Amino acid sequence: MKTVTLKINGLEVSAREGASVLDAARAAGFDIPTLCSHEELEPAGVCRFCMVEITRGTKSRLVASCVYPVENGLEVQTESDRVKKIRRMLIELLLPVAPSGPIGALAKRYGVEKSRFELDNPGQAPANCSLCGLCVRYCEQIGGGDAVGFLGRGVSRKVALMPDKGDECVFCRKCYSICNSGRFVEMAEVFPDQP
Ligand code: FES
Repeated sequence: MKTVTLKINGLEVSAREGASVLDAARAAGFDIPTLCSHEELEPAGVCRFCMVEITRGTKSRLVASCVYPVENGLEVQTESDRVKKIRRMLIELLLPVAPSGPIGALAKRYGVEKSRFELDNPGQAPANCSLCGLCVRYCEQIGGGDAVGFLGRGVSRKVALMPDKGDECVFCRKCYSICNSGRFVEMAEVFPDQP
């Protein structure tokens, strides 16, 4: 197995060639927040919470660590000011729709007390779905169907058991347990006949 050597938060780390920066950082004990990463699924780079700052020579930039492969000589910062700023912005964007669960925990971690954004209809109860898409991708990649999907756009976007795809559901129920926010059960009645 070929390995590469990089520095993460100043610590020299060896990682398997082809591994993601996220996996290398976690193996070295660094805690990078993620919403859309799951060991059973292909990385998708959707939520952007795993952003880290990488430096090569004099140039640095932000990348999604779950889809960025390790490279020899790369320097990585997992909690730089730029990284924290983008994570705070992501938290603010999601806080109105998902104030509890993982977003609430991240808000505490990054000191975000309130969001400058609000729901279209402020009287509406927040769905508490962070739109990470784990349930959708699990159904598609492992369940082998499209029974779970996204409906709507923008602030109206939501995850749902697709009413016309009920026959593609194999009742594995993984969409319930894989849910970051634990709210999936609220949509169960879409398939009234499930066992
Ligand atoms: Fe990398 Fe979501 S975990 S983008």
